[in-house]
Amino acid sequence: RVKEVMANEGTQFLDKTITVAGWARTTRNANKGQLLFVEINDGSSGESIQCVLDSEKTEGFDECKNSGGTGASFQMVGTLIASQGDGQAVELAVTTGKLLGAVYGGNIEGTEIGGALYPMSKKAHTLEHMREHAHLRARGRVHAAAMRIRHCMAYATHTFFHNHGFLYIHTPILTGADCEGAGEQFGVTTLLGSDHLETDVTIPIDPTKPVNETVVGAVDYSKDFFGKRVNLTVSGQLNVETHACALSDVYTFGPTFRAENSHTGRHLAEFWMIEPEICFADLSDDINLAEDYLKYCVKFALENCAEDLEFFENSPHGEVGLRDRLKNVLDNPFQRLTYTEAIKVLQKAEKDGDVKFEEDPVWGIDLPSEMERYLCEKVYKKPVCLTDYPKEIKSFYMKLNDDEKTVAAVDILVPKIGEIIGGSQREHRMDVLKKRCEEMGLDAKQVWWYLDLRRYGTVPHAGFGLGFERLILFITGLQNIRDVIPFPRYPQNAEF
Ligand code: 4AD
Ligand code: MG
Repeated sequence: RVKEVMANEGTQFLDKTITVAGWARTTRNANKGQLLFVEINDGSSGESIQCVLDSEKTEGFDECKNSGGTGASFQMVGTLIASQGDGQAVELAVTTGKLLGAVYGGNIEGTEIGGALYPMSKKAHTLEHMREHAHLRARGRVHAAAMRIRHCMAYATHTFFHNHGFLYIHTPILTGADCEGAGEQFGVTTLLGSDHLETDVTIPIDPTKPVNETVVGAVDYSKDFFGKRVNLTVSGQLNVETHACALSDVYTFGPTFRAENSHTGRHLAEFWMIEPEICFADLSDDINLAEDYLKYCVKFALENCAEDLEFFENSPHGEVGLRDRLKNVLDNPFQRLTYTEAIKVLQKAEKDGDVKFEEDPVWGIDLPSEMERYLCEKVYKKPVCLTDYPKEIKSFYMKLNDDEKTVAAVDILVPKIGEIIGGSQREHRMDVLKKRCEEMGLDAKQVWWYLDLRRYGTVPHAGFGLGFERLILFITGLQNIRDVIPFPRYPQNAEF
């Protein structure tokens, strides 16, 4: 892999015969066509290897010359030598070059090589352009780097929780429960077999060969989940609580779905969430865990993703001073304050003429993101853990505080993003939980199994949910959540 070869500027493989394979970032002729330079990347890192082919020395030279350029795939065998030119320490003097796949142009039969239609051509593209070509987007540097960081953050997550004795519980995707009670769930429908065809749809299977095939399956909206209604989960929390209340420290990490018709750079209809749940614990234990975990992820990225972080820092799509911002997160304790205190801070800021919000910051409102961001970007300039929200604006399962007005909830707000984590101590007292269900218009029968956890050996417990894509935004400094997930699902966008 290119990453191994280029580690320590290629010194380990100097003068050795090696084989590399990958896709051309650029190809270039020199010396009146005698030399061909192919810069190859294989996604293992952001780096590439310059391969030098010589018409007099390289087997396969003519084949490689007619590749169509950027995007073509090659396998090259050669000797790694100190580079003759500027710009790289080493280069591969290719003895045998093999063109694996050329880049074809506008002709659909693919006879015309090197047309201008390759969507990931060498020039700089906008992120919007890249999103429109989700199937080829990983060829671009920004998405490739984001995917490497995404992988590392998943690995860091499992490592952190494993090292702290947590068990990974796989919670279901199909469920009858609505954890957040926000009515933002997608339902499911059953696609019946060919016996029940209601409509025939004709689609060309291979766009290059217009063969007509009939798609088997049609929608019968009377059937949900074998006659029962189920939804795609909005959160694994209620399920993971069942295992916490036996195994003590657990977490789930899976896809979650929200039918919010949102077009912001912070929301997706399908996103991944990490949800730890800890027993014999209160809200401050929960916040301590969240702070330790977030800092662990930041430290892991600084130590293991240095090259990609540097790339983002210098990229026009990235953030100036990214690594300093991340180091600051490690060096300072998160700010902790209550919702009630935050409202006073916001009111004072308005009174002093420092800011004018669209809405008045009065006690009881669900803080709009401009206020969340004001707190962490302007007032405290670091992550803020906001606690003890009015019970009316939070979920039924959160523990009621002694004031009976607020609940033991926490939102962690970070600069540029706003809410990255939402969590709470859970209401473990049966009588209070039942009353809260009533108040919130939730039929306690629907969550009978959840109430059973309070009936049989209840314990104080707490947990939180971290939006995985928001973590990747936080680490990369990218602006749009659609750029940090392989296939973003948002309104009207779920073709493949
Ligand atoms: O605040 P939320 O809705 O909390 C829960 O779902 C709890 N059941 C979590 C728990 O206590 N176990 O969502 C948690 C986090 C948010 O802070 C945000 O980072 C992310 O999930 N999130 C989204 N990310 C992307 N797109 C969306 N539409 C999101 N909605 C929430
Ligand atoms: Mg929330």
